[in-house]
Amino acid sequence: MKTKKILFVFGTRPEAIKVAPLIKEFQKNKQHFNVCVVSTGQHKEMLDQVIDFFDIKLDYELKLMTPNQSLNQLSGKILNSLKDVLDKEKPDYVFVHGDTTTTAFASIASFYNQIKICHIEAGLRTFNKYSPFPEEINRTITGRLTDLHFAPTEQAAQNLLSENINKDSIIITGNTVIDALLDGIEITKDYHDSQISGLKKIISNEKKTILVTGHRRENFGKGFENICNAILELSKNPNINIVYPVHLNPNVKDTVHKILSGKENIHLINPLSYPAFIWLMNKSYIILTDSGGVQEEAPSLGIPVLVMRNNTERPEGVKAKTALLVGTNKNKIISNVNNLINNESEYKKISLKKNPYGDGMASKKIVEYMKQNG
Ligand code: UD1
Ligand code: UDP
Repeated sequence: MKTKKILFVFGTRPEAIKVAPLIKEFQKNKQHFNVCVVSTGQHKEMLDQVIDFFDIKLDYELKLMTPNQSLNQLSGKILNSLKDVLDKEKPDYVFVHGDTTTTAFASIASFYNQIKICHIEAGLRTFNKYSPFPEEINRTITGRLTDLHFAPTEQAAQNLLSENINKDSIIITGNTVIDALLDGIEITKDYHDSQISGLKKIISNEKKTILVTGHRRENFGKGFENICNAILELSKNPNINIVYPVHLNPNVKDTVHKILSGKENIHLINPLSYPAFIWLMNKSYIILTDSGGVQEEAPSLGIPVLVMRNNTERPEGVKAKTALLVGTNKNKIISNVNNLINNESEYKKISLKKNPYGDGMASKKIVEYMKQNG
């Protein structure tokens, strides 16, 4: 078999986490695949942390992030700069992941060059154009252009079938986020870094830690104000300790710091490296988040997730009761946190569930499929 050239394009923290194990798996199969790795640099500091930890070697680093840039600016830059890379590299396949602006516009650039597209984490849908915004349409556009859809779950595959995608192009694999998490847990067993040392100083065994993350564009403004006011109220309980690694998007950072800076029992910190974040998830009692990846990771660690959104493209966790949709209503967030804090039996039911998103074998399945069919 002729060696196939596989070109990965990613640009944000979660994409890098989820493609890292897959890149490694392809690289183990040098007789079949020649791997080229491109970062658009849609994220900067938050992406660098992941690239360092997983030791991903970049062939192209496009460095496209500028502070608070519009989606239009970013999209144009991705299309233009990827053309040069694709013209030069002429890959057999481009692999994209998920639903970011990098994902959608790398897919369009690949389509313009008539290169086959493979989509990892394919088929997630809310069927609501503006929620999450712009991710629902990013992944739908990507789905239209994709040649091979690697769907993480049966539900995701069903979503693609409902859009008349050919069933022979859909492969159910589990989510590579679990491959990354299991690698991460292994590497971090005896791992210490300055961030973990810092976290040890703010975490207390006498208090229940509530971990908070958030960044969704549809929560900007009122949504984040409600979330912060709920956190402020919860922090008055002396048995609770809130740790919040704040996303670097200024629309998030500014609101969060304005409402929560300097308050007792609330620790606003910078985004954590992946190993430090896993460490912190493991020490947490509850996670309050609007993140996609965190919804998928938390069940493997037995931590209940309260999802601060009105809908989710990850219904498997809600169905399995590892996650609960609480939206951004202040009172609903507070009452659901209090319910889990005061009701041990309810808590145990949630925290003992099996992870519905994968078993750590997704990357192997994708590479095996590409060996047989690519
Ligand atoms: C992006 C993705 C979102 C994904 C999220 C993961 C889009 C439209 N959004 O949202 O789907 O879930 O990443 O975190 O693709 N910034 C920094 N440093 C960083 C990263 C961001 O300063 O390392 C700031 C910059 O001012 C940047 C802004 O955040 O312009 C927004 O970044 P952007 O990638 O457009 O959106 P996110 O909210 O990060
Ligand atoms: N994460 C991290 N450091 C942090 C917060 C999150 O490494 O301070 C990881 C987390 O484990 C998950 C991913 O980043 O794998 C989620 O990223 P994010 O919430 O930004 O994006 P989403 O998953 O919603 O697209």
